[in-house]
Order: sequence, then structure tokens, then C-alpha cells
Amino acid sequence: MVFDCWPRQFIWGVSTSSYQIEGAAHQDGRGDSVWDVYCRQPGKVANGDTGDVACDHYHRYGEDVALMQDLAIQAYRFSVAWARVLPQGVGAANEPGLAFYDRLIDSLLAANIEPWLCLYHWDLPQTLENLGGWANRDSVAWFAEYAALVARRYGDRVKRFATFNEPSIFALFGYGFGSNAPGVPRDYLKVIHHVNLAHGAAVDTLRALVPASLIGGIHNRQPSLPECDTPEDHAAARLLDDYWNRCFPDPQYLGCYPSSLAQAMEPIQQAGDLARICRPMDWFGVNFYAPVYARADAGSSLGFALGDAPADLPRTAMGWPIQPQALRDELLRVHQCYRLPIYVMENGIATDDKLDEAGRVLDQQRIDYLQAHTQAMRNAMTAGADVRGYFVWSLLDNFEWTLGYTRRFGLVYVDYPTQRRIPKASADWYSKLIQAPRD
Ligand code: FCB
Repeated sequence: MVFDCWPRQFIWGVSTSSYQIEGAAHQDGRGDSVWDVYCRQPGKVANGDTGDVACDHYHRYGEDVALMQDLAIQAYRFSVAWARVLPQGVGAANEPGLAFYDRLIDSLLAANIEPWLCLYHWDLPQTLENLGGWANRDSVAWFAEYAALVARRYGDRVKRFATFNEPSIFALFGYGFGSNAPGVPRDYLKVIHHVNLAHGAAVDTLRALVPASLIGGIHNRQPSLPECDTPEDHAAARLLDDYWNRCFPDPQYLGCYPSSLAQAMEPIQQAGDLARICRPMDWFGVNFYAPVYARADAGSSLGFALGDAPADLPRTAMGWPIQPQALRDELLRVHQCYRLPIYVMENGIATDDKLDEAGRVLDQQRIDYLQAHTQAMRNAMTAGADVRGYFVWSLLDNFEWTLGYTRRFGLVYVDYPTQRRIPKASADWYSKLIQAPRD
């Protein structure tokens, strides 16, 4: 294996999220999140799967940290389950829940793995959803209270904080299309604005309580491409880009909504809101899997619909097209637009992994995907993008939202009936990449 030469300071990590791996959903005082409730609704999640047990990481975190250490992983991005530390969303904190993240963080530090803590990976406490969730402007204060608790408790050991993971996804799918939790149609524009305000409030809170913190937001970035080469589809792609890629990072990092949304957002805003949203940031987190395609659709309320990628492109087990060059292009676009250090906070692939007779998982397709995408990232860096780190999604196979356990994204295979962890061939590949000579 020959690897590119990477800068000495470049950080190689892995990412996970609370609901997708922790399990212990009803243990030690944890409250319900919107995903617990959504999973209980018949027909919402494949096979009726839930995150009740997931990868049982709540109990097996020690083994998982040891695995990362064996693989020479330098940084671990996880999220805190809000309802584990504040079962009602606000008010009384839950000591056993807080103590779990103490143990996790202490184990990471002992293994010389840097903790990267994300405050929100889609699991709003259900009690707050019952009050209107993100469509309620009070959500800004709820989130700030939660951020303060996390900062006070872990800020002595954690310096890397992210506010939200992929706000466009939970806002659009959770409240717009209703195809993710909470699955309740609510005023989507209000949700966008309140999440943006909550981001700004959390940044201020973290800075005040943890002066050494380095704070970013994590955004799904999917180059928005026209399905057909027509003026109408090009216009649809630009509009989709505004809603999908820009309606969170632009206000957060540039202090304005994209022009196509600005007018619609006006009645929702109060004086000074954009300044509350746009706080000084330290880094920009990019999640990248594939481009997205758009087509004009006069029948849809926004005038566009999701289109199809060209039929001849190779695909992942999610059906997503594989186009590594798009990562290079997107990193350069993010660099030019936001001018901050970039971390790729998620990149990876679902493949049809099976244990072979020798008990191995030979996931060559994942290796090829990661190889091609890290190479594309390297090309973006050569062309000027200031990329400082890369995190694979994911450490473990896990609960893939509405697809339940039917898709495997891990570097490590999880045999769910026994919870045995089996590093795949890609884990070995990634470990070698991390340990290859640096510049
Ligand atoms: C991202 C999510 C993550 C995981 C991957 C496959 O959109 O942030 O939780 O589901 O997709």
C-alpha cells in the first residue's frame, strides 16, 4: 500500500452519534428523545428497529475506546444525548447520565484520543418536542441551558465542540417531509431560524464557560447538480443548494440568509437576530457522501424536486452515487466561501458486508471509496483548501435511522446478537494510512 504524504498536524478520526450507538435507552434515568418515540410508531423504521440496545456502547465504551487505540485513531467525535443528561430537556440534570460521558471522555484521554463533542445529533428530548420543538422560539434558551451544562461539566477536558450535526437534514426531513423524527410537519422556516439562533446562543455559552474551546458547526455539503442540462434544472439546482447547503452555514458564518430565502425569513426574524446567529467560529465541519441532483417541479411548493443521478454512476448500498471529485470541488467551495479551517467530519460508505468463513470482513469497496475520497481531499488541499482533519463515518456499524440496522457504515463490524466487534479490512487500511510517514 502506498499512501500520500499528509501534513504532520493533520488529524485522523472517526465519528459516531449518541442515538445510533449508545443503547441503554431506558437506563439510569435517560428521558425519551424524539427518535425513541418515532421508532415506536409502526412502519416508521425498517424491521421495527429501535436504538434501545444499538451497539450497547453505553456499557461497551471501554472496549470501543481500546479498539480505536489499537487502530491508532487520533480523534473521536461523539454526541451527547441531551435527554440522557437532562431527561426533561431543561431543569434537573441526571447525574448517572452525566457520569457516563465523564467515563467516556476520561477513557479517550487516557488512550491519547482527542474527544470532539457534538451537542446535537438529532435527538431532541421528547418533552421539548411536546412544546413545539424547534418551531418554538424558546428552543433557543433550552439549547443554551443544555450547552451550559455540558460546558461546565466537560469543559475542563474537552476543547473541541460542535453545535449541530447536519441541521438541514433534521429540519427538512424531521419537520418538512416528516420522514425522520419527530415526523411532525411544522413551520419549516421557523425551525431553520430557531436552530440558527440556538447555534449562536450555544457558541456564546461555550466561549464564556470554556475560553479555550474551538467551536465549529457540522454541515452536510452535497454539491447540487441539475438532473438535465436545461435552464430550468440549473435553476432548480441553485435553489436546492440554498435550502440544502446554505440556509444554515450562510447565516452562521456570513451573517445572512441566501438571497432566495431572505425574504421568506424576514417575518420570522426579530431585530438583531442575524448578529445573534453569526458568532465568531473556529472551524467549519463538512459531512460529505455524494452530490445531490435537482429537477424543476412546478407542482412542488418550492418549485423543485430531488432528481436522479445519471444511471451509469457506481452506487453505494444506500443507492448514493460515488463521485469523489465532488468532494474536492465542495471543499474548495467551502474554503472560498467561509475562509476557515475545514474538518471533514463525516465521510464513508454503506457496503453489503458479510463475515466470511474465516471470520473476516473483506470490504474492498469501502477501502476503494475511502482511498478515492482521501485522495480527492488531498487534491483540494493542493489546490488551496485549508483542510486540517478527516473523520470516517463510522467507527461501528450502527442504527442507520429509518433504515434501522439494514445498512453497515462501520470500519468495525458489529455482530448484533452477540455485540462482538470485528474490525473489517478497511479498519486495517485506515490504521495504516494514519501511521504512514508524514511530511
Ligand atoms: C449522516 C448522518 C449520520 C449517518 C450518515 C450515514 O447524514 O449525520 O448520522 O446517518 O449520514
